[in-house]
Amino acid sequence: MNIIATTDPVRKIDAGFLALPFTCSLLKKNGTALLKEHGFPGNVLDDFKAEAGELLVLYGSAGKAFSGRVALLGLGEGKKAGDFRKAGAAIVGRAIEMKTGSVVIDMSGIKGFAASSKSSATSVCTAFVEGCFAGSYRFDRLKSGKLKKKAEDDNPGKIAEMIFRSEPAQLGALEAGIAEGVVTGSCQSLARDLVNLPGNHLQAVDLAKAATESGVRGGYDVRVFGKAEIEELGMGGLLSVNKGSVHPPTFSVLDYRPAGKAEKTIALVGKGITFDSGGISIKPSEGMGEMKSDMAGAAAVIGAVEAAARLRLPVRVVGLIPSTDNMPDGSAMKPGDVIATYSGITVEVGNTDAEGRLILADALTYAKKHYNPDAIVDLATLTGACIVALGYSVAGLFSNNDKLADDIFDSGLRTEEKVWRMPLWEEYDEMIKSDVADVSNLGARGAGSVTAAKFLEKFLDGHKKWAHIDIAGPSYAPGKGGAKASGATGFGVRLLVDLLKKWS
Ligand code: BES
Ligand code: MN
Ligand code: ZN
Repeated sequence: MNIIATTDPVRKIDAGFLALPFTCSLLKKNGTALLKEHGFPGNVLDDFKAEAGELLVLYGSAGKAFSGRVALLGLGEGKKAGDFRKAGAAIVGRAIEMKTGSVVIDMSGIKGFAASSKSSATSVCTAFVEGCFAGSYRFDRLKSGKLKKKAEDDNPGKIAEMIFRSEPAQLGALEAGIAEGVVTGSCQSLARDLVNLPGNHLQAVDLAKAATESGVRGGYDVRVFGKAEIEELGMGGLLSVNKGSVHPPTFSVLDYRPAGKAEKTIALVGKGITFDSGGISIKPSEGMGEMKSDMAGAAAVIGAVEAAARLRLPVRVVGLIPSTDNMPDGSAMKPGDVIATYSGITVEVGNTDAEGRLILADALTYAKKHYNPDAIVDLATLTGACIVALGYSVAGLFSNNDKLADDIFDSGLRTEEKVWRMPLWEEYDEMIKSDVADVSNLGARGAGSVTAAKFLEKFLDGHKKWAHIDIAGPSYAPGKGGAKASGATGFGVRLLVDLLKKWS
């Protein structure tokens, strides 16, 4: 998908589809006149209310303004970035269905949209472009096409070109917005691809390779530790989870350093379980396939580091990704085992399905020890309990630092990747005590997402600015969505990029 900006008058642009965006209030105030300008009668407003993402396709403007198809495109109140994201997704989705090839979006009114959303023309455009990426996202690389019927064969319905049109005064803002939206949009799509790839297509080494390739694209360093080096370091958490696997583990360190001196270093840690069967504490078979998404934290971290690098944010970002699958086997870790983590802290394995916290423990220790970063943020599909608590659209937030928690909460609202803070009170420590080791990886009844976070907290070695984001719910939409993409959402990329900007 090629995305460009232009100041040509709409009628001169060669495209198959024109979108005229309206906010509700613009429609009320001026709808009839604006429609008339484009050669449409006022009564189409009976069928179009400009809700965010609403579309009404019209024909027969009699060549007055534009020769192709025209769509009225709703922006809702146009008050938040999400309104523009929805609109972008809607218009691209329809264009793909209708195989229009190219789309022009008339952004002549972008100053008004910036005002209604109390943001800039650039941000409005960025949100629009992010929506275009979301709305055109398809995961079809594993389809061979061999069983397709003839009629579907000829046109896959790809968008060739998205053209944003504005007045000359806004061209710069438009171009900047497109450039940023292309980065965040493509990095989010990258994360979705990685999450959608099933276990047999994405092992730990493949995830590490994806990180390496991302480093080449973004111009940042990636170092991958293989099994021997992980053994040398003594990462007992990662190695224990890997015991049941026939595939070697990896530990990837992504390091983006901005040109010039970085004031701050931020560590992002992502859970990279390429498939979680539960191990010896095996999961029920129903829905187990969704556990290919258990590396969504890692995917979001790769996407965010790449975005930070491509946007040249003035902050050092270190991404840390421990990765393996979690499988049952004769040599697998067993319930009751006591293991020694990289920190030296010993853990009684109450349940081998609580594997994420074991690999994250090592990565958190590594982050503190080798970088002593200004902040550590980890993302993990850590607990089903978090889905019970908050559902599928909101992530759980745990932090030992109120300022960091507030910043993340605020980024969640701005990017519509929302988080809700949960407690880390010491009362919960009781629940993960062990008689034989320093701590247990299994809590008692209840508060499963909190006890998981309490476990992680023990591996920070006193670090005072840490947040854990449990993305088990929002990272993956279960079920079959047909053409509409179900599966991976790429949750966390926009959230982290917005957060990283706060250190800029
Ligand atoms: N990867 C799962 C958590 C999960 C569940 C993510 C559903 C996405 C959707 C994690 O490793 C896990 O199995 N957690 C257990 C912990 C329990 C054994 C203490 C859980 O949530 O049941
Ligand atoms: Mn598990
Ligand atoms: Zn897991």
